[in-house]
Amino acid sequence: MIKEFDFDLSAHNTFRMKVKCACFIEYNSIEELESLPWDELPKPVKHIGGGSNLLFTSDFPGTILHSAIRHVKYIDLGLDEVPVLAGSGVKWDALVEELCGHGLWGAENLSLIPGEVGAAAVQNIGAYGVEFKDIVKGVSCYDIQERRRCKFTVNECGYGYRESMFKEAADRYIITSVLLRLSRSPRPRLEYKGLAGIDASSPASIREAVIGIRRTKLPDPEDLGSAGSFFKNPVISATDFLRIIQAAGEENVPHYVLDGGMIKVPAAWLIDRCGFKGEKEGGAAVYEKQPLVIVNATGSASPGDVLELERRIIASVHARFGVTLHPEVEHIP
Ligand code: EPU
Repeated sequence: MIKEFDFDLSAHNTFRMKVKCACFIEYNSIEELESLPWDELPKPVKHIGGGSNLLFTSDFPGTILHSAIRHVKYIDLGLDEVPVLAGSGVKWDALVEELCGHGLWGAENLSLIPGEVGAAAVQNIGAYGVEFKDIVKGVSCYDIQERRRCKFTVNECGYGYRESMFKEAADRYIITSVLLRLSRSPRPRLEYKGLAGIDASSPASIREAVIGIRRTKLPDPEDLGSAGSFFKNPVISATDFLRIIQAAGEENVPHYVLDGGMIKVPAAWLIDRCGFKGEKEGGAAVYEKQPLVIVNATGSASPGDVLELERRIIASVHARFGVTLHPEVEHIP
């Protein structure tokens, strides 16, 4: 177990904000987690994963917890469905690479998403027509309130678009592992328009195509600090959508009609139309190739720079289109 005080979090957030926490703890097992002196830890207590979907808005006065539970176990029963148990601290993309390497279907569309398994389960990560909820069977947790281990079936997790009950109950449940269900027989998911015509002969070939697309659109966190999509794509009524068409003076506004008739509009398009591509605020900037992403352009952007750019984008999109954007990136505290 690692336990440090007055700890620099730069290496634990892909936005690369230079912030500190009062206490940092990295545990290697459920037993270590259970043994923590919960009542004595500096408060509040916040669990993070790879730090790839969060923005530290200032120094953190409490304890940051991080999982280093990194086992991957295959439960091979000789059936078509292969259950795989993965620890919360496993790097998500390393797991996807391994699953694709074994020829198992299900996770390939979720290739190259940064972060770790536990956070993938909290956030219900999604890309190219697949979400985490589509390949998970159950989630194991440690309940801080009751001080006991517990398990949830996928239906109990309350999954929605980048939502789960773990987000609502973040101060209660710590995810320790997930049980995924992969498939031996081909299950290509190619509905997302960008995947048309790709080589879908194996999970590895789809993975390669998805990686190619992501590399053209999204910054590599190794080169440029960011937290991926900064905003959620707004889901609006048909009336609100008509207002966007009128305000834009264009008929071909990109959109997706969801079950139930609500309409999802790409936030990237709204931000683009408000002229924010490449826009700067201190060291922060709107990414040129994908305006849904805010980047730490200089490497020394402050949380204040990012927050100010966020405020300006929300205000402009609201003034022009009447739609309020909501951040997808979690703000801490
Ligand atoms: N667009 C523009 N201008 C641009 C770029 C894009 O107008 O410069 C518009 C286009 O109309 C384009 C649309 O934005 O068709 C949507 O782009 P895309 O489908 O590539 O993705 P997205 O809606 O921007 C979502 C997820 C991504 C995920 C992709 C692929 C959210 C918030 N983001 O982005 O997830 O990889 O779909 O499935 O739902 C993340 O969560 O961090 C993330 C990267």
